[in-house]
Amino acid sequence: VSQILTREYLESLDAQDQLAPFRDAFQLPGSGQYFNGNSLGPRPKSTREAMKQVMEAHWGCHGGASWYGQDWMQRPARVGGKIAHLIGAAADEIIIADSTSINLAKMVMTALDIQAGRHVIVTEEGNFPTDLYILKDIAARVSGVEIRIVATEDLADALDDGCALLALTHVNYKTSRQHDMAALTKKAHEVGALALWDLSHSAGAVHVDLNASQADFAVGCTYKFLNGGPGAPAYLFVAKRHQNGAPALPGWMGHAAPFDFSPNFIPAEGMTRHLTGTPPILALAALECGVDLMVEAGVGAVVEKSARLGDVTIELVEQKLSDTDIEVLSPRHTAQRGAQICLKTVQASALVGRLENRGLIVDFRPPNIIRLGLAALYVRYQDIWDVVDALGEEYKALRRVEQA
Ligand SMILES: Cc1ncc(COP(=O)(O)O)c(C=O)c1O
Repeated sequence: VSQILTREYLESLDAQDQLAPFRDAFQLPGSGQYFNGNSLGPRPKSTREAMKQVMEAHWGCHGGASWYGQDWMQRPARVGGKIAHLIGAAADEIIIADSTSINLAKMVMTALDIQAGRHVIVTEEGNFPTDLYILKDIAARVSGVEIRIVATEDLADALDDGCALLALTHVNYKTSRQHDMAALTKKAHEVGALALWDLSHSAGAVHVDLNASQADFAVGCTYKFLNGGPGAPAYLFVAKRHQNGAPALPGWMGHAAPFDFSPNFIPAEGMTRHLTGTPPILALAALECGVDLMVEAGVGAVVEKSARLGDVTIELVEQKLSDTDIEVLSPRHTAQRGAQICLKTVQASALVGRLENRGLIVDFRPPNIIRLGLAALYVRYQDIWDVVDALGEEYKALRRVEQA
């Protein structure tokens, strides 16, 4: 983008946008200009029928017989297989279970098992808090395990032949900076470490190819860009070469024959062994609707539009807000950032409230960051014009209040 942007020009981009029809598949909160899908994606309209079917036609009419009769047992793998398609994994390398926090703990323990004799986990400052809490907790509980938390620019140097695991979030929640997954995974492998990626801000947002990157493990949220619903269950990925390992937290649902009720754990084949407890079937029904929309739209088109929405946002902020202290915190290059643009301003908290009063939903991360989630399935180019315009107006209004 290099010309001076106008609202008319952005409307023309919307008119040509092949993804434009998907906007109507969502119930959009507020005025319909929703920039918070990087936190909680909006509700696909199809979730109502899908959940109703499980409640009435399955649970209501067949009760527990639905576990096999209505294929409930297959759902974690079925929905996982669809997500695999979005992030460069084979269908049988992903399963849906638990939360990202729990899955992260499970994958770290699985990796440490494989890496017997190595004790160091490397991660970075500024990783998402739950990742840091879980990694630190494992280091504190498991004898000999040590965590090395370093600045982003020191990651490669922190890897040495004592390292068991590199555990990183691919796209940072606060800055939107995106790591080069293939390059860092390669560096980890060169010293004999494995690589675990948290894809919470990546799936359905940026290009991810787990297998081309040789990633070993991955986890991620489904309630953000995959629009799975509040508390939607997370996914976990184990590369095929590691799938014969013993699962961490072996529960009855990971057993080869759960309904034999054997006192001894025998792992199921493949990813099923990484299930721990009973799958959340209602939540899975909602999640599948969000994932189906992403599959139907085509993740390539989604990634491309997300990047362009980001470019337009940066361009507009620079064009229209240069007389404010509002500053773009996210990287300029599309391959180095996620599908959100983070803005820094001392007025962040007040501005987010003022925008919300105008029906524009953006989000705030303390102390001074505004996040604009740019989900390609329902955010329009013209919406970016409106939110940047509103930011400028409200910034000036705040300044007038301060000066009065
Ligand atoms: C990068 C990242 N990892 C993990 C989580 C938390 O996931 P969960 O609530 O499923 O444990 C989040 C939530 O926003 C996140 O942004």
